[in-house]
Order: sequence, then C-alpha cells, then structure tokens
Amino acid sequence: MEKRGHVLVLTYPAQGHINPLLQFAKRLASKGLKATFATTHYTVNSIHADGVDVRPISDGYDDGGFKHAPSVEAYLESFKTVGSRTVTELILEFKNSPSPVDCLVFDSLLPWALDVARELGVYGAVLLTNSASVCSMYWHIHQGLLGLPVKPENLPVVFPGVPPLGFSDMPSFLAQPADHSAYLATIMEKIECLDQHDWVFVNTFEELESELAKAMSGLWPVEMVGPVLPSAYVDGQIEGDTDYGGSLWKPNGDQCLNWLDTKPPKTVIYVSFGSMAQIAAKQVVEIARALQGSNKHFIWVVRESENDKLPIDFISSIDQIGLVVAWCNQLEVLAHEAVGCFITHCGWNSTLEALSLGVPMVAMPQWSDQPANAKFVEEVWRVGVRGKKDEEGIVRREEVERCIRLVMKGEKSEEIWRNASKWKENAKRAVSKGGSSDKNINKFVEVLLKGKG
Ligand code: UDX
Repeated sequence: MEKRGHVLVLTYPAQGHINPLLQFAKRLASKGLKATFATTHYTVNSIHADGVDVRPISDGYDDGGFKHAPSVEAYLESFKTVGSRTVTELILEFKNSPSPVDCLVFDSLLPWALDVARELGVYGAVLLTNSASVCSMYWHIHQGLLGLPVKPENLPVVFPGVPPLGFSDMPSFLAQPADHSAYLATIMEKIECLDQHDWVFVNTFEELESELAKAMSGLWPVEMVGPVLPSAYVDGQIEGDTDYGGSLWKPNGDQCLNWLDTKPPKTVIYVSFGSMAQIAAKQVVEIARALQGSNKHFIWVVRESENDKLPIDFISSIDQIGLVVAWCNQLEVLAHEAVGCFITHCGWNSTLEALSLGVPMVAMPQWSDQPANAKFVEEVWRVGVRGKKDEEGIVRREEVERCIRLVMKGEKSEEIWRNASKWKENAKRAVSKGGSSDKNINKFVEVLLKGKG
C-alpha cells in the first residue's frame, strides 16, 4: 500500500545544500512519510538514499549547471523560470497517483518554490541551511536596523539573542553587498515572506540557539529540526547511515580512516574549507607552512581546483606527517578518535558537524555566513578559536600555529574540549527520541500523515 503523507524535498544543487536537504528527506522517510528528493539532472546520479525516491528537475543548465551560466544572477533567474515549470510538472505527475504530493519542502535559496506550492494547493515549507542567528541578522537588516553596506563606523550592532557584532563578524553578503547582489536579493526575497510559509525549518537545535528560538517563534512558524546528520553520528544508531548519500566528488575510500587508525587519540589536525570557498594562494602557503611547523599529523582536503596553490615542495616534504586528499567523507574523519582539531572555514554544515561530533575548531571564515558562525564558535559555544587576519586579510603561519596550540594543548584546550563534549551530548539529545528536534519533526509528520484538508 502507498504511504500517506508525501513530501517532495527540493534542493539547491551545491554540496552544502544537498547534504542537509537530503538528510532531512531521509529522516522524514524514516518516520513513515513518503519522501521524494528533487535535484538537477547533472547531480541526480550522485544521490543514493535508502527509502527516498530521487527525481530530476531542471535549472536550465542540464549539462553542468552553475558553471555554464554567465553570472550568479542569470543562474538564479534561470533556476526560477525553468525550475518552477519542472517542479510543477513533477508535482502534477504525482497528482493522479496513489501518493499525491502533500508538501513541498525547499531550499532557502529557492524562494520561488513557495509560489509553486501555493499554485498547486500543497503545503509549502522552507529549510533554512544557515544558522538561526544568521537568518535573524538578515531579518533585522531587512527591517532597516542597519543600512547596506554595513559600515565599520556603525558597529558593533546588537541583534536580540546574538552577541555584539563587529565588522569582521558580518556575513560577507552584508559587508560587501555589491559583490554578492544576486545572492543577497534571493535571501532578502525569502526573508520577506517567511511568515507566509506553512513551516520554516532551521538546521539547528533549540538548545544551541535558545534565545533565537524564542525570538523567531513569534515571527514565523519556525521549527528547529537539526542537526540533520546521518543517523550513525547523532542518535547512536551504530548500524545507521555513515554518510549523507549525495557526494558530488568521489571520496577517497578508506585511505583517511586507515591512516587515522595508526595515530594516537586527539593528535591529528583535519583541515577543510568545504565545497565552494576559493582560498587566496598566499593563504594556502601560510597554512602549508603552519602545518609543517606544527609538528602534528594532519589531513588536508585540497579540492582539485585549488591544488595548484600548494607550494611546489609541499607534497614531497610531508611524506610521513600528512595526507593531502581531494575529497573525503568528512563525517567519518571528524568522528575518528585520532582527530584533535578541525581547521575550518565555518560553513554551517561543517560547524554543525564539528559541534555534533565534539571536535574543537580553528575558525578561518572565508565568505557568506562563515564570519558570523566563527564568532559563535569562539565566543558563544566556546568550542574553538578564530585565526586573526593581518591587514592583507591573511591568517599568517605563526597565527595558525598559535591557534592550533591553543586548541590542542594547555588550559584553554581543556575548556574547549569540555565544551565540545557538552555540545556533542546536547546535539545527540536534540535528535534522539523525545529530544527537541525530534519532537518538532514528529509534529510535522503527524500533520502530513493526516493529509491536507
Ligand atoms: C556553503 C556555505 O559555505 C555554508 O556556510 C552554507 O551554510 C551552505 O553552503 P560549503 O562552503 O560547502 O557550503 O560548506 P559546508 O556548509 O561546511 O558544507 C560542506 C559539506 O561538504 C559538509 O557537509 C562536509 O561534511 C562535506 N565535505 C567537505 C565532505 O564530505 N568532504 C570533504 O572533503 C569536505
């Protein structure tokens, strides 16, 4: 018999979006809903998720997507036009089947999907892939609390539930709006109509952003449902999922795990800057020299497109101490007991993963929401330190080494590790049976199982 309660989950086709959206679809399927995952033609073959049906839609660039578009603006516009049409067609295809779609859950970068849901008479729910704090910042800017671009002389600024923010803590879309106008316009379009959604899901948990949870619930139909991570890591199901199931690059198999198995606990530095950030060549050299100078073992993810920024002698010089890989299963690496420090760009997924797996961080934010996430890592959750930039915007090797020492050795390190363990427990509790996020998801599932109208 077909399941009642069919949710169509629509992602933006980037790694940092596919991961939380796909995981959310898997979680809903595990709770008895029928879940279909919609993604672009050129990413659809990368998705393998038990219990979730995967279907293609189009962004207008079927032979490779974003990189073939003339600009971000053109890409987002094309996705809106062609995406609206193809998502509509997909929902209509199910209309006369035993499981018509009841709810469209969509990525926060696709605000037009709410119109599709409204047009077709199904529930419309957005999943915000940034932290609640960052969403709240955008909301306050939208309300006119600060003009754009945000200027250093008007800071620090205080938003409810967020510590005073300086210029270096601002999401880059607010600090340099002219460089990111298409993304910012999309975010503001979404922020403006959050109150019109049937649900506003956020990939965070109430205990992590408690003040925000209260403030936001007065504004929008918010439910904090995170961290949406594969079940093996967060709710202790040993047999559960160990990866998201939608890697756009091929991970390097067991190479990292086998190598980590030979290292003592909490001794290895893991370095990764996510799937999009392009690191300044000078910065790559400083990190390379810091890793060599730190006298620690390390794994460094350097995507193929970034590889030529490494110093020429680097790979040949790290034979025994380090591993440079083009892509790995980050969750497996972070969960390994040998890892003792994560040098990260503070993408929201990486930040949540480190928090949930209890790994202390050295924050080196690059763009987008990352500076704000770094602020929270250092000053609110106190699970890491942030590398200070020089006047050229580079975190020099001495500073990277200083941060590594702070996180891996001495009194501050002990405090950071205590906090990291606390957040790991809190994250696990939130998603385990009866936890805050679990309950919030259950409320949604119950509504969908009843059906609309
Ligand atoms: C981007 C933004 O930076 C992020 O802040 C936003 O909220 C979502 O989009 P990205 O830069 O890729 O994402 O960073 P992040 O959010 O950390 O996502 C990267 C994902 O790739 C993580 O889930 C991480 O586990 C995964 N990853 C990274 C791997 O699986 N293997 C790797 O080698 C590196």
